[in-house]
Amino acid sequence: MKKRRIAIFASGDGTNTEKLIKHFKNHSSISIELIISNSSKAGVIKLAQKNDIQYSVINKSLLTNNSYMTSLLNLYDIDFIVLAGFLLLMPPFLVKMYDQRMINIHPALLPKHGGKGMYGLNVHQSVISAGDLETGVTIHYVNESFDKGKIIFQEKLKVDRRDTAEKLSKKVQEIEHRVLPEWTEKLISQMSYY
Ligand code: GAR
Repeated sequence: MKKRRIAIFASGDGTNTEKLIKHFKNHSSISIELIISNSSKAGVIKLAQKNDIQYSVINKSLLTNNSYMTSLLNLYDIDFIVLAGFLLLMPPFLVKMYDQRMINIHPALLPKHGGKGMYGLNVHQSVISAGDLETGVTIHYVNESFDKGKIIFQEKLKVDRRDTAEKLSKKVQEIEHRVLPEWTEKLISQMSYY
């Protein structure tokens, strides 16, 4: 049976991307084929080079160019997309093309602390400023709005009074690194063949 092929979209250091690469290395039915970033300086590009994974750097105008993106994703025969810290908004044609086959991870309990600009430490600062007693990780399908797609999974964690945004970020990332590979695999395994 044909392997399922993943593309990761990411803008940052790539700690989640690294875990995904490790998890799916030598996997019998799933492989990471392509890493797409909007920044040539992003850590994920170095990860792609180090792991011999094809990569592509795009800007907003390429991302919103239907024929460009469709050819790129078709060229690598991509079945499933994971957004692992990607800053740009997905255009409607990609949302439709990868309906139920494109997920995002967010470092808080959506629908709280999501939306445009809610990225990295901003998210954890927002949790602390709101005085929330708990935060966590959300994995959700991607739709046309930032962080608004159908929620698939959440894991909670208690916020300590002494937590700073940096401390919370570390605790949340520990959860992310465990649950993102796990859920990516689970969702792909549940996909019917088409
Ligand atoms: C992750 O914590 C992810 O949840 C977050 O960006 C970080 C990327 O870290 N995504 C968002 O905030 C999306 N709104 P990484 O580059 O080390 O994987």
